[in-house]
Amino acid sequence: MAVKCGEGLFTLRTKNSVYQMKADRFGNLLHLYYGAVTEGSMEYLITYADRGFSGNPYEAGDDRSYSLDALPLEYPVWGVGDFRTPALIIRNGDGSYAVDLRFESYTVQKGKYALPGLPAVYAEEREADTLKIRLRDKVSGLVAELYYGVLEEEDIITRSVRIVNEGEAAVYIEKAASAALDFLYGDYELLHFYGRHAMERTMQRVPVMNGTQAVGSRRGTSSHEHNPFIILGEHGVGEEHGICYGLAFVYSGQFKAEAGKDQYEQTRVLVGLQEECFSYPLKKGEEFFTPEAVLGFSGEGLTKLSQNFHRTFRQHLCRGSYKLSERPVLINSWEAAYFDFDGEKIVKVAKEAAALGMDMLVLDDGWFGKRDDDCSGLGDWYVNEKKLGGSLGELSERIHALGMKFGIWMEPEMVSEDSDLYRAHPDWAFAIPGRAPVRGRCQLVLDFSRKEVVDFIFGQVCAVLDSAAIEYLKWDMNRSITDVYSACGGEQNSGVILYRYMLGLYDFLERLVKRYPDLLLEGCSGGGGRFDAGMLYYTPQIWCSDNTDAIDRIRIQYGTSFGYPVSAVGSHVSAVPNHQTGRSVPLVTRGITAMAGSFGYELDPGRMTEEEKACVREQIKEYKKYRKLIHNGLYFRLSNPLIEEIGAWEFAAENKEEALFQAVILLNHGNGLPHYIRLKGLHPDYLYRREDTGELYRGNALMNGGIPIPSGMGEYQALQIHFVRAD
Ligand code: GLA
Repeated sequence: MAVKCGEGLFTLRTKNSVYQMKADRFGNLLHLYYGAVTEGSMEYLITYADRGFSGNPYEAGDDRSYSLDALPLEYPVWGVGDFRTPALIIRNGDGSYAVDLRFESYTVQKGKYALPGLPAVYAEEREADTLKIRLRDKVSGLVAELYYGVLEEEDIITRSVRIVNEGEAAVYIEKAASAALDFLYGDYELLHFYGRHAMERTMQRVPVMNGTQAVGSRRGTSSHEHNPFIILGEHGVGEEHGICYGLAFVYSGQFKAEAGKDQYEQTRVLVGLQEECFSYPLKKGEEFFTPEAVLGFSGEGLTKLSQNFHRTFRQHLCRGSYKLSERPVLINSWEAAYFDFDGEKIVKVAKEAAALGMDMLVLDDGWFGKRDDDCSGLGDWYVNEKKLGGSLGELSERIHALGMKFGIWMEPEMVSEDSDLYRAHPDWAFAIPGRAPVRGRCQLVLDFSRKEVVDFIFGQVCAVLDSAAIEYLKWDMNRSITDVYSACGGEQNSGVILYRYMLGLYDFLERLVKRYPDLLLEGCSGGGGRFDAGMLYYTPQIWCSDNTDAIDRIRIQYGTSFGYPVSAVGSHVSAVPNHQTGRSVPLVTRGITAMAGSFGYELDPGRMTEEEKACVREQIKEYKKYRKLIHNGLYFRLSNPLIEEIGAWEFAAENKEEALFQAVILLNHGNGLPHYIRLKGLHPDYLYRREDTGELYRGNALMNGGIPIPSGMGEYQALQIHFVRAD
């Protein structure tokens, strides 16, 4: 069992970490330790001192050294003496803000808990254990049940909180984080991933300051601006050294992640729902679940931490028949034709693509309703037969006749004002009475907190999917959410409606994956605006960014790789000059960059020269040769492309039999300096053959001496080397 309990001490044990809590003499649940494996109780670490202006609970009597303001707390609350950032804020029926959670009981079960209506990590019964600790406020009757899932082999601990009102009066949850971690001492850095549309997940590291630093989203979605995955690392943590903790929030709506040092230089980090305008009402007998937080620890640096998250998300979060299987090489019509196509043009693209070795044609935006630009048609999910020159079924048959699979794009959460749906149900879109709504890409957001709206759109989407042989669906979401007001009445706290919106979305997606178990779903939100662990529960791949420029992509994919597996990253080769940056990068480089993901094309193959076509044919062969290694192998970041002149990464087989090295020159100078890159994840004693030249190297040479990047490689040129065990 990975959970040990006794005498108020709770120890969670994974392969390489220990997490420990203690219900103390007053029933307060202290956080004792999270880190490398230790034996025995860590309670000896806690020191007590009389500290001015850090008050003492009444029952401590004259003991002025016991203060919740200084002790490490497992689930810190607002209002009873801890002045640091709280995880839980409760407004009581009498208007007061206080909750005093004391230990009552616990249960331990084999297997991993699930959360009703919310995505969560899952595991076989033998792979995980669950601990639930029940805390209660005896005055209000509010109960917080802390859930812990322990995935021993993966070095992963999950957390969630069930909040139940067992009192008489209604209360309001003003804030409910999913996880908090207190550290008694140390200097930490916060690594977070910020960005914007078409430039997502730029890694930034900042020292944790005295005070509070927060990243998050108030956009309705997890957003391009900040990602719900953060890392807390000891000062100077590197790829292969140092202690670090990853916190992933399994949620696709607005969130908040906070880190800060208190007045005693102790660090607290939290992740959870965005609390602004939250005020979630909880009447007598009602319950509320926070989304899940996934915590990882590595004592060996960032690479190990990332690899643990990769494995967990791939094996214990993604689902469906494409979870571990090879993804089809697709061609997407968006950058090939945008809205300007008809059925013939699509078939022509498919024909060319099939001849080059691609597996699937994805018909992107523009095939439905009245949709020749982005100002109309959303919500009218019936095929525009005039534009396609026939039904979707007929088009899909023609694509299948070429030996290709067929996929489509949809944006089910949206409505255009110029649509039959909006004309029939204007109140289904978010808008505040008397106010003109904010438009985003000319469109409005459907109120997915309402079941009848979700049910209606679900019916429409199913009708489309049933009308043709469709193997893939790209689920898009192309604006931030504003004007949150539900015309069906009730509480209008936007945070509450947006939480219910997410439950509506998850309910839709859950029904979809159950009904179409073989459908490959790709998530998307203007590229990577909803690239989060919540979506991965339904969509095993997510379009990483609308930016298909290989040079920018190397940086975006670098940031993405800290938390998310390569198989989750939708990445395509597009035409040059690139449509987002105007940059021209060689086709080989575009291919190598896109291969570090779920690979495809996003261009009109009819416009390629014969030479380019030959190159693409080669690329696809190569991708198919390597895709098992790329998706199942261990991923190593070999450079930091945000600051270095070269982007380099590697996929190494877990059994160390082979590795694929890829690199791109990002910046060249006159009389340039040579670049050396050390490989990783090989066996030091194995002999490896470099496949292209036949040269032989020992693993220890490649890992300690590295390899030189050939001088004379031009800016944006790429290098790919496959090493295979030779002895
Ligand atoms: C979003 C997506 C693109 C494309 C367009 C279609 O921007 O990220 O890939 O599907 O919508 O309108």
